[in-house]
Amino acid sequence: EFADSPAIRRLADWDATRLESLVGDYGSPLYALDLERVRENYRRLAAAFPDAEIMYAVKANALGDVLEALHEEGAGLECASAGEVKRALAAAEASDRSDGSGADVHYTAVNPPARDLNWVVDAWEDHPELTITVGAKDTIDRLEERGYDGRLCLRVNPGIDAGHHEKVKTGAAAKFGVPIGRAVDVLADAANRGFDVVGVHAHVGSGVSSDQLDDHRAFVARMGELARDVSDTVGDLEFVDIGGGFGVPYRAEEDPLDLEAVAEATREALGEVDARLTIEPGRYFVADAGVLLTEVNTVKEARDTLAVGVDAGMTTLLRPAMYDAYHPIRNLTADLEADSSDEAGESSDNGRETVPQTIAGPICESGDVFCSDRELPASRRTDVLAIGNAGAYGYEMANQYNSRPRPASVVIDGDGDDAGRLARRRETFDDVTRVETDAADPTIENP
Ligand code: LLP
Repeated sequence: EFADSPAIRRLADWDATRLESLVGDYGSPLYALDLERVRENYRRLAAAFPDAEIMYAVKANALGDVLEALHEEGAGLECASAGEVKRALAAAEASDRSDGSGADVHYTAVNPPARDLNWVVDAWEDHPELTITVGAKDTIDRLEERGYDGRLCLRVNPGIDAGHHEKVKTGAAAKFGVPIGRAVDVLADAANRGFDVVGVHAHVGSGVSSDQLDDHRAFVARMGELARDVSDTVGDLEFVDIGGGFGVPYRAEEDPLDLEAVAEATREALGEVDARLTIEPGRYFVADAGVLLTEVNTVKEARDTLAVGVDAGMTTLLRPAMYDAYHPIRNLTADLEADSSDEAGESSDNGRETVPQTIAGPICESGDVFCSDRELPASRRTDVLAIGNAGAYGYEMANQYNSRPRPASVVIDGDGDDAGRLARRRETFDDVTRVETDAADPTIENP
């Protein structure tokens, strides 16, 4: 009953001719995202969790096309900021499925700035079914001060965490949620104050793999217990939200997540709960739907490696610098050369030699490196490289350090030759300095 798409799209499965021509049309560096792959990923996960409500974690990739596509497939949208709520409401509005009530949008408030709370409470007036998830009693007090008495969900800190790196483990970090032992009291108090208590929530971390299934089981069991306690003492809950975190393989030797095993473990651990299960994956839907394309501009012999310079850097894709994250890399130009020499019947040793190379960006930091000593066909200047699994937390974490404009993004939808379309233009130098020139203009406000 699973959608019949493979659970992982490897970088080798992408059409090199097509990707290289996108760089010809839109320049480098360039993010490319295959929308049909996003839909396939959604359908596969939805098939494994047929009874769950699925909220897409917008932070993984907030491109409007992605939000609209996933909303049309049936997903709700989980937001981490007022800016994301704004985009989510707009995307929901554009989709046929929306009733405009905001029922399919959750705002997860983490130490929410006043600007965010004010904006979301204003939006709630027009979208009364919006849900706000809070992780501190302070936030409940602030919502009450603003006259909010709408749908409220409490984020708890379950004391169990998981994830691909220390920096993305959230289930035990002091910053996130109310300690699970205090949740019933906080919710009872909120209900007394007139809030519409609808759910409990926790998120243990991001990039959780199948070998962390025992932690997952223990975590979900705790959430089930909490939900039963809340129902017994405070009142019926609509949902138990166990967050996102569904990992995807980045290395060739890693297996895709066993979704059936995760779904079964979740069902078992949750136990008898009279509330809907909610999950909020981000990475799972978009990671393997995206690649970052970048052009080689410098090649030189370094000590034991070929030092290769490309035009994307840690400002374009931060994950390797921030988490030592591994991303697959492929030399599209070398692959296309090898294909054409195959077709010409030339001997296969016509291909390039494979050598260890260190591929780095243009930023003045030694951490600005995509891979070290990785065996790849010897790069040459003007080659186009593809960096895989760049659809999640790629563009979203891009920034303008070194006064470097952010890249363009194209969306591929369908197989037609013209199916690549510019979704986000490349920033210009003027975009980088606009906030500075605006500051000198007295007619422009500082919001
Ligand atoms: N729900 C909440 C409350 C979250 O904080 C997150 C992610 C998610 C859902 C979605 O998690 P996912 O399914 O995507 O793992 N920049 C990091 C990941 C940070 C994730 C933050 N929270 C990275 O590139 O690995």
